[in-house]
Amino acid sequence: MTAVGIDAIEIRSGKLKLDLPNTFAPQKGDDPEKYTKGLGLQNSSFPDVYEDIVTMGANAAKRLMDRKGLEPADIGRIDVATESAFDHSKPVSTYIAGCLEKVYDGDFRHANKGERKFACVAGTQAVDDAYNWIQAGRHRDRAALVIATDTALYARGDPGEATQGAGAVAMLIDEDPDLVELSTHQGYGSMDETDFLKPNQQFPSVDGKRSMQVYLSRMREALEDYESVSGKIHLDDFAYAPFHTPFPGMVRKAALLAYRHVIRDTEHEDALADAIGRQPREEEYEDREAYEEAIREYMDALKTTEEYGAWYDEVVEPTLGLSREVGNWYTGSVHIARASALRDALDREGEFVGETLLVASYGSGAQAEIHAETLQEGWRAEIEALDIDDQLDARYDLSWDEYEDVHDVHEYDKDLDREIEEFTAPDGEFVFTGWGRMNE
Ligand code: HMG
Repeated sequence: MTAVGIDAIEIRSGKLKLDLPNTFAPQKGDDPEKYTKGLGLQNSSFPDVYEDIVTMGANAAKRLMDRKGLEPADIGRIDVATESAFDHSKPVSTYIAGCLEKVYDGDFRHANKGERKFACVAGTQAVDDAYNWIQAGRHRDRAALVIATDTALYARGDPGEATQGAGAVAMLIDEDPDLVELSTHQGYGSMDETDFLKPNQQFPSVDGKRSMQVYLSRMREALEDYESVSGKIHLDDFAYAPFHTPFPGMVRKAALLAYRHVIRDTEHEDALADAIGRQPREEEYEDREAYEEAIREYMDALKTTEEYGAWYDEVVEPTLGLSREVGNWYTGSVHIARASALRDALDREGEFVGETLLVASYGSGAQAEIHAETLQEGWRAEIEALDIDDQLDARYDLSWDEYEDVHDVHEYDKDLDREIEEFTAPDGEFVFTGWGRMNE
């Protein structure tokens, strides 16, 4: 079977930032450590007044095409994954293609365009669709452009407000990829849920605590489903495990769950038994509540073991670096977790070529998906080419009043009674100049 996967990625952050411990926490009257230690976040990225999902996506795609020396004729498919779309009919990919056509010779008339929606997991689903299109042989030697772009905003005062973010990840899916090859094996956990949704509304209705439970339940099912095709997985199978990261604290919980699942019925579980006992088995308990309490106790003990700590520090913690700095990017989130991990690998010894990532995506509503990816020869050059550190350093640091202005600007239905000036200057990039019209 032909190797198909992610050939290149580009990351585009919103150009503003909100400092959670120093600007957000004092305003809310909260201990800053709720954000830095509890949720695990330092800053959120926000779009300037001339940025939106289209400009961030188009700017990421343009940098990717330029870096890889691509012309529109090389791209046969453009899919955008987003849950921040402003148009119920015309897909965001057509707006982005329109931007790109202004700066390249040639157009994307030949390209199949679409928009993928399933909350945050849509970014991975769009990658999957591109993979299937190529493996089916329908691509005529062209690559697919997948763009995950979101302005992840919550209503002011919503508990989710601390986890906002904005940015885009552009990915080129192709044969013989330079970055990672995707596995044919996948696992799913999917169920109709209403903990996070946006029925005809811009900002989500969220039951935050329940959303965390749903995330964990679907993730456990996806792991079981993945193992049903891949066979039992082992802890040392994976160099890194990037998870969907609404905030790093969520991944701490998901990683512990995954670890418990993976060691179940293994020598590793036996080795830990002297110190913390064996995992409770449901059949040993009379009722579900008692079983769940026993599981919680086991997990609390497991979390404190040296073995778990070492695994977490090596395989999971490095995936959180960018998320800490930018917040939740919804569809792009798991893709910046992968990039964070590989940035960490640049500083570690070893080639990493041929090593495997366990990638766990999730979208509210709700669906988790798990697959594996194998690092390719060109991974190092691809990751070294990212300019995300420069972008993050250049962000404008918003005061609280400025944050309120920016939030108002990006609220579609808000009748603004004041003119909000841009905070940064556009620099040879696509900017928002009104609905349906984009100029460089
Ligand atoms: P909250 O209720 O304000 O926060 O909002 P909290 O009181 O639960 O505190 C958060 C953590 O900080 C807790 O840690 C506290 O103990 C800790 P935990 O007990 O959970 O480990 N804490 C402190 N730690 C140190 N020092 C302190 C301190 N104070 C508290 N002083 C909530 C949290 C997640 C509910 C909120 O942010 C929210 O509603 N977020 C939006 C929903 C969300 O992100 N859900 C995640 C799962 S669903 C998902 O990932 C999908 C999503 O990306 C959407 C999509 O798919 O499209 C959201």
